[in-house]
Amino acid sequence: MQSFSKLRLGINIDHVATVRNARGGTTPDPARAAKLAQAAGADGITAHLREDRRHITDSDIDAILEAIDIPLNFEMAATEEMQKIALRHTPHAVCIVPEKREERTTEGGLEVAREENRIAHFIAPLREAGCRVSIFIAAEQRQIEAAARIGAPVVELHTGAYCDAHAEGRLKDRDAELVKLRNMATLAQELGLEVHAGHGLTYDTVHPIAALPEVVELNIGHFLIGEAIFSGLDSAIRRMRVLMDEARNDASGIIVA
Ligand code: PXP
Repeated sequence: MQSFSKLRLGINIDHVATVRNARGGTTPDPARAAKLAQAAGADGITAHLREDRRHITDSDIDAILEAIDIPLNFEMAATEEMQKIALRHTPHAVCIVPEKREERTTEGGLEVAREENRIAHFIAPLREAGCRVSIFIAAEQRQIEAAARIGAPVVELHTGAYCDAHAEGRLKDRDAELVKLRNMATLAQELGLEVHAGHGLTYDTVHPIAALPEVVELNIGHFLIGEAIFSGLDSAIRRMRVLMDEARNDASGIIVA
């Protein structure tokens, strides 16, 4: 019988800062959004401090940590600068992501397989400082095996290709991506890794991902911040939570039966 643990929801508030920075000034305030997300039932707040500070800034990280009681998942590139910042704050979790200046968003997963040694050395002090280290990777066997070899306790599987295929109506590709995610979530769990997922998830795409029994945390941002324009952030987060819970219940019902 497959067991289903509670699925946590991490809310990524980067794009509150994107809107603020489009104008300069202080509003909308990402720390206020983080507090509101907490009140709406988020299990954690995710924020990505990019090298170019295009959305979240250093002072946002201070303000978010001050505003919330739930864990902060600090997304960062594997650079010396970010490692120093993470070690200064020692957030509950850090998620190591690839970063390219010219990209609009985190396009792919981290090439941990090709950079195994470097990433292993990079995460060691973060782990020693007590941060839960997660590696954001594509759903590929070689990346998962490499993540396990370097002793990362968590992998976050990139759901972007699945979500893009859905949005573009490429249903065969979407289903193939889902199969990959499902198989790779299983492999990751077999290798002792905790499995998270995220990127590009929406009300329409969350169900099959939330139904994967190995997945224990989803990190969702852009869609919910956009949806907040129409229904408010509180309502958008609560709706996503309901959809996740429904998916979990549906799946456990099917598998247990
Ligand atoms: N997880 C990781 C590792 C990410 O880099 C991002 C985007 O910053 C997300 C989740 C959330 O993606 P989205 O904003 O598309 O929901």
